[in-house]
Amino acid sequence: MKKLLEKLKTKENLEKIVVLTGSGISAESGISTFRDNDGLWNNYNIEDVATYSGFAKDPEMVWKFYDQRRQEIQNTKPNKGHYALFDLETHLQKKNKEFLLFTQNVDGLHYMAGNRNIYELHGNLWDAFCINCKKKRRLNDVPLRVLPPKCESCKNLMRPDVVWFGEQLPSSVLDKGFESMDCDILMVIGTSLLVYPVAYFPFLALKNKSLIIEINTEKTHASDYFSFVKGKAGEVLPEIINNLKEIL
Ligand code: OAD
Repeated sequence: MKKLLEKLKTKENLEKIVVLTGSGISAESGISTFRDNDGLWNNYNIEDVATYSGFAKDPEMVWKFYDQRRQEIQNTKPNKGHYALFDLETHLQKKNKEFLLFTQNVDGLHYMAGNRNIYELHGNLWDAFCINCKKKRRLNDVPLRVLPPKCESCKNLMRPDVVWFGEQLPSSVLDKGFESMDCDILMVIGTSLLVYPVAYFPFLALKNKSLIIEINTEKTHASDYFSFVKGKAGEVLPEIINNLKEIL
């Protein structure tokens, strides 16, 4: 941390700050990550609950899984890490500087914290769409009254509006992500950087000579390329952002 704060003091003319988050930022809100010891992918089979073929085989079971996630989130709140990012966006807005927040999370906690310039790369747990007519619907009921939910227009099956393994990310959001890696600073928070194409983002930013600040409780395979700060997002982000605000 000390090294990073020294480095920040030497930076000037910063105009564009981009953030990339993963499930680690929501861990302090009580939401499970995917690959930590108690992570979701240690308790569920990806093939069963996070692929289209798993859904086609047993839509009710898959909806139950996502409904459980929704129930988990309904009882949580954003934490200090989320709020620090809201603080940063508000500050940059006042200064007429650019702030973009890319998240792999589907929990919606960044919106709840107040951030607005958010790009959800893997969808959102509160949204669903019809597998036939593609009509979207926000599902606010928790738990859902009917499982699996049906489309109000064509009565076909609806699916969660999340990206599953083997599926492409929405190109508008993905393109925006690649395009935004021409930033001055990229903050990579609480992600193992194991899921592509998003895991390419920091390497593109590196190529563009951005300062990359990685915040994680553990080193990742990429930490040695970045300015790594070990710690919980909710504990270290407020301090980093307070220091950043002084030079922005
Ligand atoms: P992972 O579970 O792979 O990684 C979570 C990361 O957060 C790990 O590197 C942890 O060390 C770190 N971490 C845990 N607690 C933290 C804390 N309090 N503060 C900071 N870091 C912390 O989750 P993701 O990288 O988000 O995709 O996973 C990426 C994608 O894989 C997800 O979006 C999901 C999953 O399969 C889809 O479902 C398509």
